[in-house]
Amino acid sequence: MSGIRPTGLLHLGSYFGAVRNYVKMQEEYECFFMVADLHSLTTHPDTKELKANVHRVLAENIACGVDPDKAAFYCQSHVQETGELYLYLNMLAYKGELEKTTTFKEKARSQPDNINAGLLTYPVLQTADIILHRASLVPVGKDQEQHLEMARNFVNRFNHRYGEVFPEPKAVNYGSELVKVPSLDGKGKMSKSENQYATIYLSDDDELIRKKVMKAKTDAGPTETNAAKPDYIDNIFLLMKLVSNDETLQKFETDYNNCSIRYGDMKKQLGEDMVKFITPIRQKAENILNDEKYLQEVMEKGAEKARRSAKATMELVREAIGLNYF
Ligand code: TRP
Repeated sequence: MSGIRPTGLLHLGSYFGAVRNYVKMQEEYECFFMVADLHSLTTHPDTKELKANVHRVLAENIACGVDPDKAAFYCQSHVQETGELYLYLNMLAYKGELEKTTTFKEKARSQPDNINAGLLTYPVLQTADIILHRASLVPVGKDQEQHLEMARNFVNRFNHRYGEVFPEPKAVNYGSELVKVPSLDGKGKMSKSENQYATIYLSDDDELIRKKVMKAKTDAGPTETNAAKPDYIDNIFLLMKLVSNDETLQKFETDYNNCSIRYGDMKKQLGEDMVKFITPIRQKAENILNDEKYLQEVMEKGAEKARRSAKATMELVREAIGLNYF
């Protein structure tokens, strides 16, 4: 089970970091992938763009290979049971531990005029999402590890107080396969909020992709054979490894090692390979976005699967808590 916030566009980093893992997991496991529209209300109370954003998240993930016939792909707000489970879990979550959460402290700092209770109990709602399906594996990025640790605490408290209902959810780490997608300015990795020009979005058009790649930082080239690469050069090679073929990569490695590399040519090649990689995804996402009937069907099918699983869990939960009076 995993959730995707409908804020911001998919980029190359989220593709290689998250979506590719969803696509792999749906082949092996029963999967629930959820658009976290309720979570987005904690930071984005203005809902004018919400519908468009939810549609875009669905379309982009499907274009990347998430298959609504294999996984349950649904919206959080379509499963009412989430709210009920969230309420029970809130009685097991302590104010102190919630206030200590890193993401809470960060968001409280960035939106001091809207430190709402939903922000404080964000990890409780996330736990409800996960255990509503009694899920045990949660593919997430490093930034979510603390939330998963809290989820395990809430689960253990529930099980201890009311009886074993839930498995302990674990963050799925792809270990050595975890790919770092560097940003184009040589600073950190591609992300939604950092420098827009250093991040390649799956919705960028061909010209913009080429332009962004050509702007990547380089220098005059190595002056000694087999020199170590500076970070920003290494990054260009890393990106090339993701989207270009081995032969191309090998050619530029050789050129680098014998000091004949021309970064202009390398970036031109990378730009073309990036365009070849992204264009079909962007076009597929656009086609899906234009097909509202299809999106409707995806959401309905997903909600149905998620509700079925949620109903079964909630019967166990009410029974365990003792809310069964007749
Ligand atoms: N908090 C997650 C994020 O910011 C999104 C999320 C919501 C989630 N519910 C979830 C992730 C359940 C995993 C499981 O990315």
